[in-house]
Amino acid sequence: MSALLDHSRRALRLLHGGARVLEAKARGGSFPFSMTFILTHRCNFRCDYCNIPAAADHEMTSAEFKRALDELAAAGLVRASFSGGEALLRRDAREIIGHARALGLQTSLNSNAWLALEHIDELAEILDLLVVSLDGPEPIHDLVRHRKGSYRRVIATLEAARARKLATATITVINPSNLDVMDEVIALAQQHGNYAYFQPAYDDCFDHHKGFEAGLPARIFADMAARLQLAHQRGERVGASPRFIERLARGPHFGDCSTCSAGRFWGTVLPEGRVIPCHLQEAGLDAPNGLELGFAEAFRRLPAHKRGPGCAISPYQETDLIFAFDREAITAALRRLAGARPLIPART
Ligand SMILES: C[S@@+](CC[C@H](N)C(=O)[O-])C[C@H]1O[C@@H](n2cnc3c(N)ncnc32)[C@H](O)[C@@H]1O
Ligand code: SF4
Repeated sequence: MSALLDHSRRALRLLHGGARVLEAKARGGSFPFSMTFILTHRCNFRCDYCNIPAAADHEMTSAEFKRALDELAAAGLVRASFSGGEALLRRDAREIIGHARALGLQTSLNSNAWLALEHIDELAEILDLLVVSLDGPEPIHDLVRHRKGSYRRVIATLEAARARKLATATITVINPSNLDVMDEVIALAQQHGNYAYFQPAYDDCFDHHKGFEAGLPARIFADMAARLQLAHQRGERVGASPRFIERLARGPHFGDCSTCSAGRFWGTVLPEGRVIPCHLQEAGLDAPNGLELGFAEAFRRLPAHKRGPGCAISPYQETDLIFAFDREAITAALRRLAGARPLIPART
């Protein structure tokens, strides 16, 4: 019974949040509908393409993260995603995510899956979606991620999550040398019931001074887009929405940051408490500090107009499309959230 009540409460919050977005868009307003909480920049891996662990520094306490969640929930937050570095390195990560869930928020976690399996029962209780990185078949994944056995943990985590009806997705970073892994990763998605997302590798992705330069030739974006489109046509389990695939095909000229809804309806809380629209907009931004100003106020102070040539960061683009009311992006997000769970759970 309590599961049904919990589910209904979150569904109502989602509907109410949607109505509020409509109203805010009509009057040019903003509110934090969806926020990513980077719990730490620390990581137990050193993946080839990732420079996040080098940014590890001060982190808020559990009480401070909970305060951020409370304040943003009071300001209308509907969805809280958690990421890192490797968020599960923090022993209080599950407590913080559980707090978000108790507030009636939709929750998701990005993880390299190394530590997820041992906590899978608890994660299945507090998450709506678990997103794990999968960089290809075993030899490639373990090589890129410099950790033997990590592919096996990803697969074991996908299986354990499925057994607990926890929705999962994979995200695969693509560069010129591993385009061919896409087909194998899509086949694994069919097998494990997850959705597969693909992310072009960015040069210094999280070095925000160089961030906009994807550093990949146009043919890679075109090839990725063509493969995704084909998978879509075949009805395979790719997460990308058709409009994102169109944007990807334009690479490396994706669009214009001024029209993006980052900072209007979604944003990021950094480990030490600063609030930013997205990490690519961090450069040149005197990012407001949530601990000093309050987190809702820090979000409100984010600049309305952003400059930049757009990006191909898959979760950002899919989120932006949702706030542009792209029907297929919204359907894809709901389908992903519903995942292995029925939309209306059986009475317990
Ligand atoms: C920063 S990680 C954090 C979560 C977790 N540590 C993991 O590996 O999934 C989130 C995603 O960013 C991706 N990522 C890291 N560096 C990247 C880069 N240079 N270009 C594109 N994606 C990158 C990772 O592969 C991962 O899927
Ligand atoms: S991609 Fe994830 S697992 Fe790999 S080093 Fe970066 S934060 Fe760590």
